[in-house]
Amino acid sequence: MPVTVIVGAQWGDEGKGKVIDMLAERADAVVRFSGGDNAGHTVINSQGTFKLHLIPSGVFYPDCTCVIGNGVVVNPDIFVSERDELNSRGVNTDNVYISDRSHLVMPYHILLDGLEEAARGKKSLGTTLRGIGPAFADKVARMGIRAGDLMDRGILRTRLEYVLEYKNQILTKLYGKPAIDIDELYEICCGYAEQLKSNIRETSSLLNDMVDEGKSVILEGAQGALLDTDFGTYPYATSSSPLSAGGCLGAGIGPTRIDNVLGVFKAYCSRVGAGPFPTELLDATGNRIRDLAHEYGTTTGRPRRIGWFDGVGARFSARINGMTGMAITRLDILDSFDEIKVCTAYRLNGDLIQDFPAEPAVLNQCQPVYETLPGWRQSTTGITRLEDLPKQAREFVARLEELAGCTACYVCIGPVREQTIEVRPML
Ligand code: IMP
Repeated sequence: MPVTVIVGAQWGDEGKGKVIDMLAERADAVVRFSGGDNAGHTVINSQGTFKLHLIPSGVFYPDCTCVIGNGVVVNPDIFVSERDELNSRGVNTDNVYISDRSHLVMPYHILLDGLEEAARGKKSLGTTLRGIGPAFADKVARMGIRAGDLMDRGILRTRLEYVLEYKNQILTKLYGKPAIDIDELYEICCGYAEQLKSNIRETSSLLNDMVDEGKSVILEGAQGALLDTDFGTYPYATSSSPLSAGGCLGAGIGPTRIDNVLGVFKAYCSRVGAGPFPTELLDATGNRIRDLAHEYGTTTGRPRRIGWFDGVGARFSARINGMTGMAITRLDILDSFDEIKVCTAYRLNGDLIQDFPAEPAVLNQCQPVYETLPGWRQSTTGITRLEDLPKQAREFVARLEELAGCTACYVCIGPVREQTIEVRPML
């Protein structure tokens, strides 16, 4: 049984929650491996509509083990409220574990995210203000508080004292804000410890044992490849790796154990926050797609920026992820269009380029080169086989495969599990 990594292939919000919810039925474990509660995965199933930020999308299957891996930063308040909400709606969370190596998003991280964004002024990154960047910065600076630290009050107190000394200097001297009281913070953390103690454990050995036993494990990505800290539109990027390689690091499973990498692409593109977006549509067509698709952030409620499918970004994303297949979501959103555009290359200073530039300022100068495909102008909802899709829709799917250099395994034509055409199932 395979280990499958499912990653966002664009700028996040590709519909990973739906794809993972569908595939989790065949999985023994689903593992979140990066990001934090900046992610927002919407899952619609027979139990209702759920907006998950931290808990893996496999939680709706009682036999599925759900792990928040070491690569995730965990806001304990968000975890507890999500867990309580699921429980109150009849979803069991007994199988949800948090890696003892995962770092915690502390109240001062959220404070600092806001202060740093405000200090950037017009150059703000448009972060989700969830404290994600500051929490990952502390992890790398070796100033983080890990979930496992909550399990030993002595270690917890010592760590907090060490970290707070530094944080309070920043808060008071740089931003002119009041210092955080160590006793108050310690009490808050002791509360976290009580609430999370049944969920925190070592998770890498749990997962590797499952793989040894031939069980099926899904590594659930958050955000998207073009927001990756290294390969995304840095500094307009998130602070951890949404790539398949991030899955190995963030779950503690070695690369030789990964069998498949499924990249989730929307049939068009969207982006939230600031940063370059070559195919962005600032016109009525963009508004039409946004309205048809209700493209508003799950986490922040912000209207998402909309654009045509970007073949340059898609090819780049498929390569850096080592994708073995793609899922194309939200094809149905394009059902009513007379014509649909796809970007096949960029034009930069008169030259045609096929590579995704590293520098946002260069990317901002890139003009998309479009190919116009005929629309199919009929509803695809309810179709279950690729051959039953209208000819133009099949040609559109084939063109996206060509541009990304990757085979379509799933095509989604609606928000619920069943509205999926399984072209070449991976699991
Ligand atoms: P941060 O991850 O909150 O620091 O935000 C950094 C950038 O990533 C901003 O442009 C956010 O809008 C974007 N971002 C973070 N999480 C998501 C997500 O789950 N979907 C889409 N964009 C995201």
